Amino acid sequence: MRKRIVAGNWKMNKTLKEGIELAREIELQVEKQEDKSAGVIIGLPFIHLSEVSKIVNHKLISIAAQNCSSEPRGAFTGEVSAEMIKSTGIEYVIIGHSERRSYFNEDNETLNKKVKLALENSLKPIFCIGEQLEERKQEKQFEAVNKQLREGLFDLDDEEFSKIIIAYEPVWAIGTGETATPQQAQEMHKYIRKLVTETYNQEIADNTTILYGGSCKPTNAKELFSNPDVDGGLIGGASLKADDFFEIINSF
Ligand code: PGA
Repeated sequence: MRKRIVAGNWKMNKTLKEGIELAREIELQVEKQEDKSAGVIIGLPFIHLSEVSKIVNHKLISIAAQNCSSEPRGAFTGEVSAEMIKSTGIEYVIIGHSERRSYFNEDNETLNKKVKLALENSLKPIFCIGEQLEERKQEKQFEAVNKQLREGLFDLDDEEFSKIIIAYEPVWAIGTGETATPQQAQEMHKYIRKLVTETYNQEIADNTTILYGGSCKPTNAKELFSNPDVDGGLIGGASLKADDFFEIINSF
């Protein structure tokens, strides 16, 4: 059966020194935890990957990059390739976060290229999808998510798709303090799983981890994670404090 996961997304926060300290703090707490069945991932800025990868116990904490290039290598100043990321010894890469989609104009076609390069380099993608506020208001949220999945992921074969983690993050809930209700989250996660069943099969759908993201915090994580199709969270703001992040990890 699918793995439950809590993944932190530090975004553009923490100097290298602060990042190392935070990773150590999180690891200390996870180490003491009795029930270690939930996976813990921290999503770090590129600059932290290599150092933090060396100091954490990867059996307790896995590491994700927050992006990778859509090109394999070459003259792309400022870009970081999936191959380079993999060479730091980490396991995951967040692809298609709504901030990448909106501020850096990343479309589904580009994201699909990133997903394939990640997989070719043995990185597991955490693929983010989610509707804008306008789309929710017009009740077009299912259509929006369907398109992102079809164009971003659904040309992968069974084996490739089995390595994907999906993160549903309604854009109106990210960093706004406004969270989707547990009912809204469950409704969308169930819909996503249904699409995966139709595109692949029941077994693959049952094994796909679908995270919720968007103002998930210690006070609402339990209620969100208690839904049958919500397999954990992608946590922004609340992942920057070890205590808050740990409380969320303990919310299953
Ligand atoms: P937030 O961010 O928890 O701060 O809303 C979530 C995310 O962007 O992944």
